[in-house]
Amino acid sequence: MALREIRIQGDPILNKTCKPVAQISDRILELIDDMFDTMYEANGVGLAAPQIGILKRIFVIDVSEEGNEPMVFINPRIVKTSGTQTGDEGCLSVPGKTATVTRPGYVVVEAYDENMEKFKLEGEGLLARAIMHENDHLDGHLYVEKAEGPVRDVKATQE
Ligand code: NI
Repeated sequence: MALREIRIQGDPILNKTCKPVAQISDRILELIDDMFDTMYEANGVGLAAPQIGILKRIFVIDVSEEGNEPMVFINPRIVKTSGTQTGDEGCLSVPGKTATVTRPGYVVVEAYDENMEKFKLEGEGLLARAIMHENDHLDGHLYVEKAEGPVRDVKATQE
């Protein structure tokens, strides 16, 4: 297990456009593993490569309750969106904060998996929100740019 440092809002790398992945290498596979480790450790539902300082078009998501449905998206492309959903969103690069953001209610994304096999996935609800949020990271955008109203403090939840 290898954790990488999560870049925080204000780090210029978060505002850059990421480059497509040309081919899978051991280095890329290690990066993906580390992205999952870093995301799960931080209790996130998604993480994009630029958030750990790597300007490649890769993000990972797991929106399951148990944290046992890892999904990796390489060179993703949003091919369809419809409807809207409005709700609170957060980001590991903007710790302790939340804001209301409107996203599509339904998305279709095409991407490549860790074997560089192309797949197409439909998402609704939280999955649709996560896909749009993470995809924005690949173009240097943070959700706070889309905030409706103030970016608020989240009360820390204690176990
Ligand atoms: Ni984020």
